[in-house]
Amino acid sequence: MPRTVLVTGGAGYIGSHTCAELLEHDYDVVVVDDYSNSSPAALGRVQEVAGRPLISVPADMRDRRALDAIFEKHSIDAVIHFAAKKAIGESMNIPLVYYDVNLGGTTNLLHSMQRHGVQKIVFSSSCSIYGESSRARLSEDEEPRPTNPYARSKWMCEQVIRDACKRCPEMSAISLRYFNPIGAHPSGLLGEVPAGLPNNVVPYLMQVAVGRLKRLSVFGSDYDTPDGTAVRDYVHVLDVVAGHRAALEHLDEETGTQLFNLGTGVGTSVLQLVAALSEACGRPLPYELADRRPGDVATLVADSDRIHRAWGWRPVHGLKEMCRDAWRFQRMNPRGYTAPR
Ligand code: UD1
Repeated sequence: MPRTVLVTGGAGYIGSHTCAELLEHDYDVVVVDDYSNSSPAALGRVQEVAGRPLISVPADMRDRRALDAIFEKHSIDAVIHFAAKKAIGESMNIPLVYYDVNLGGTTNLLHSMQRHGVQKIVFSSSCSIYGESSRARLSEDEEPRPTNPYARSKWMCEQVIRDACKRCPEMSAISLRYFNPIGAHPSGLLGEVPAGLPNNVVPYLMQVAVGRLKRLSVFGSDYDTPDGTAVRDYVHVLDVVAGHRAALEHLDEETGTQLFNLGTGVGTSVLQLVAALSEACGRPLPYELADRRPGDVATLVADSDRIHRAWGWRPVHGLKEMCRDAWRFQRMNPRGYTAPR
């Protein structure tokens, strides 16, 4: 089983929680991150949570020399690849940057892995690649119909990885298509800290809760959903992290590519989410109804039977815990990682 894991984007939201989990399970961890949407302080917190050190290398994934230097210096057994740009709206304004960073970063990484004989990778993919669908729950067999450059870049990366595996029969790759990860580490030390104005609904609502933002704009109230607002499958970041650890543990079993959804199968509308977070914070969070956000779809809910059948993975945290943990982190860190607790 892999013992030293390179985590790209390890200072980010899902990356930092994954690093803590890996350290706690005796993996050695090397992080590469350019801190473009994260902070080195996150890695300090990871080490505090886990009680063990990790190695961090500040670098851009497009910097081939920097990646080569990491593989030369450290004996890497497997890679978990999170580093990417991930704001859907932004991806529609600067598509080439998204392809450059997400696709270019991934091909660079695969090249570097091949040059250094590293054959195992877990890739952070996204449910957004499914796009608009009439199905209540989406399985991995659903035909991808990405509706924006971010989603398309993730789908392309999956295909690039598949082609790399075909060429290199020793390689083993697992792509995990997450639905909407939210929540935070129960210690209150790790959570989601976006740089600048949050794009995603939970970080935005958390800043409303601490008075840094006035109210949430609910993007779209005329969708074909029970209350007219968009429905998503919110999944606790700890369950997503557990999926990554399971993936690492199963990389040895099969060569080639495997693909799994990570979601709960439970759909929650934006208004239901506002209500659940309001309950967690103990006060109603203000919102207003607004126009739809370009690139959004009405409903995305996972069918995660495949990963359950393969590895027994099941989400163990419900929406209430996701909201409680997100709020605990926000309360303890109202200004993110930089300000004193
Ligand atoms: C999307 C992707 C997800 C990806 C993530 C990365 C989809 C379905 N999912 O999540 O795979 O990993 O981006 O950023 O494409 N909303 C508001 N007001 C806001 C912000 C959001 O009403 O200020 C609504 C959105 O319209 C959406 C829901 O809240 O219906 C969730 O939005 P968000 O948290 O941004 O995640 P997705 O766009 O679903």
